Amino acid sequence: MYDRFNRKINYLRISVTDRCNLRCTYCMPAEGIKMLHHSEILSFDEITEVTKMAVSMGVDKVRITGGEPLVRKGIVDLIKMLAAIQGINDLAMTTNGIFLNKFAKPLAEAGLHRVNISLDTLDPEKYTNITRVGKIEDALRGIEAAKQAGLSPIKINCVITKSSDEPDAQMVKKFCETNGLHVRFIPQMNLETGDFGIVEGGEGGNCKICNRIRLTSEGKIMPCLFSNLGYSIKELGVKKALELAIGNKPRSGSVNHINHFNNIGG
Ligand code: 5AD
Ligand code: SF4
Repeated sequence: MYDRFNRKINYLRISVTDRCNLRCTYCMPAEGIKMLHHSEILSFDEITEVTKMAVSMGVDKVRITGGEPLVRKGIVDLIKMLAAIQGINDLAMTTNGIFLNKFAKPLAEAGLHRVNISLDTLDPEKYTNITRVGKIEDALRGIEAAKQAGLSPIKINCVITKSSDEPDAQMVKKFCETNGLHVRFIPQMNLETGDFGIVEGGEGGNCKICNRIRLTSEGKIMPCLFSNLGYSIKELGVKKALELAIGNKPRSGSVNHINHFNNIGG
């Protein structure tokens, strides 16, 4: 399906949980966020239904996000259900990688094609400062497990404050070059002030070519990360919610006061 600005919408990003095992400073406030109750979170059947409908409307690229998708119970089963849908050419996941040591192989066997893994620095202390609770060894072990499982190409998401010239970003870049990984530099964004930039090495943040819609963990279709617009599949039905989201997708992003990264998935 095309939107009003003739952009072909073929990319669905699905947030499967608002929870995360980490607390990255740029993603979550220190005091934490209000978590959704389990009953508010879409079931696997509901997620599959939305995905099937989206695919029938032209989506051929699907990404699973969070929070952290690997903390959602039964995530491997969901991947199996989504992988069985005819018409998805690209089935990917964005993860912090901490649990990939355990999950990479089962995910690959379930039909996941590839992963993007967050890594902003190679300094163990800085990693723990940024994530508040994470250990870099776990993330690095996760990256290795993804490689072993053949979840490739593996892309590394590296959040930068100003530019990719920053020493941490340059270290991550070098690490990626020597380990056969792709790197994408993501400018640190602020949903509430509408402060966002174009992802270096990726497609995000470029409104002119934006092909995305999002499904939040509580079942709203959001046409834009930087907009308050959202259409509830429970109130409107799946088809109508998708049509309204695509039909009302703004020309470009502005601000989003409703969501945080943890429930919309970046
Ligand atoms: N700015 C930029 N990217 C962010 N992410 C989360 N919060 C932000 C933010 N404020 C992205 C990170 C991470 C992914 C899960 O979400 O790139 O890799
Ligand atoms: Fe978790 Fe990712 Fe947010 Fe960090 S950026 S707290 S890993 S969802």
